[in-house]
Formats: sequence, C-alpha cells, structure tokens
Amino acid sequence: MEDTLAVYPGSFDPMTCGHLDIVRRGLTVFDRIRVAVAYNKDKVGSGLFTPDERVAMIREVSSEFGDRVTVDSFSGLLVEYCRKVKAGTIIRGLRAVADFEYEFQMTMMNRHMAPDVETVFLMADQDHFYTSSSLIREVIALGGHAPKLVPELIEKELIKKFRP
Ligand code: PNS
Repeated sequence: MEDTLAVYPGSFDPMTCGHLDIVRRGLTVFDRIRVAVAYNKDKVGSGLFTPDERVAMIREVSSEFGDRVTVDSFSGLLVEYCRKVKAGTIIRGLRAVADFEYEFQMTMMNRHMAPDVETVFLMADQDHFYTSSSLIREVIALGGHAPKLVPELIEKELIKKFRP
C-alpha cells in the first residue's frame, strides 16, 4: 500500500507548541506530513518572519520526526499545492469553538474547488487550546514569556526580532 500523505498548511508566523502537537497527532494517522507555510507573493514582508525563516524554524523544531515530516512554503491556492505534491488530505487543527466558522468556510470552499481533497480536523491538546501565534507574538513583544507555548528555539527568534 502507498504511504499516506497529508498537507498541514498554515501561516505559522511562528509555529507554536500547539501546531507541533497537531503534527505529532497527525503522524498517528498519516505516514507522512508536509507542513506548508502559506504566504502571499504579492505581500511579501507582511508577516513578522519571512516564509524562508518560518520554514527554517519549523524544520528545526520538527527534526525529531525525521523524514516523516517535510517542510515547504507555497503561494497561491492550497488545493493547487495539494495537487502538485499529490496529497489527498489537508490537516487543520481545531482549538476553541471560535475556530469553527472560519474553518468550515475554508473547508467548503476548498471542497468546492477540489472535491477529491479531504480536510480532516485534529483537536489540539487542551494545554494549547487558547494559544495562537498572534497572542504569542504580542506577549513576547511586550516583554513577557511563553514557556511551553512556543518551542524554545522559536521563543529565542521572537526575542531577537522584538528586542534586537
Ligand atoms: O494559519 P492560518 O493563517 O489559519 O492558515 C490559513 C491558510 C494558510 C490555511 C489559508 O489562508 C489558506 O489556505 N491560504 C492559501 C490560499 C487559499 O487557498 N485560499 C482559499 C482558502 S478557502
């Protein structure tokens, strides 16, 4: 039987422990996961980290998973990217109910464009239910710490960005 491959897309600006938890859970279901950093090529520079910086950090923090996890970036439609890499599944993490509406809309739109690509949702661990990249960016920018919410390496990179 062929390996099962899923794409785990997101902005990952930056990747949090909640995202890593979803990767770990995803690997119990799929043989391989391709973490895909989405960016808009017409708005490069709009995030805190560049797509290349995000990819490099994700590679470091996901190295424990070996070659079952690969990391890439893409601009354009997610479903086109899935076709390009021959993945039939998209993984998304769900936190609180607040995520539902947005995720529902995205899933339906992706299904409309690509009925052959299925989206599956994995629940983040409850420790990560209320974290997000944007909240973590804000906490670090304001001089706080987010131990256990963001990998140490990434916290260091955040501190470098905000307090060079
Ligand atoms: O981490 P995020 O910001 O919630 O991830 C959102 C993401 C990147 C998955 C979504 O914006 C996306 O799929 N972008 C790629 C462009 C695209 O396909 N847009 C139509 C989605 S319905």
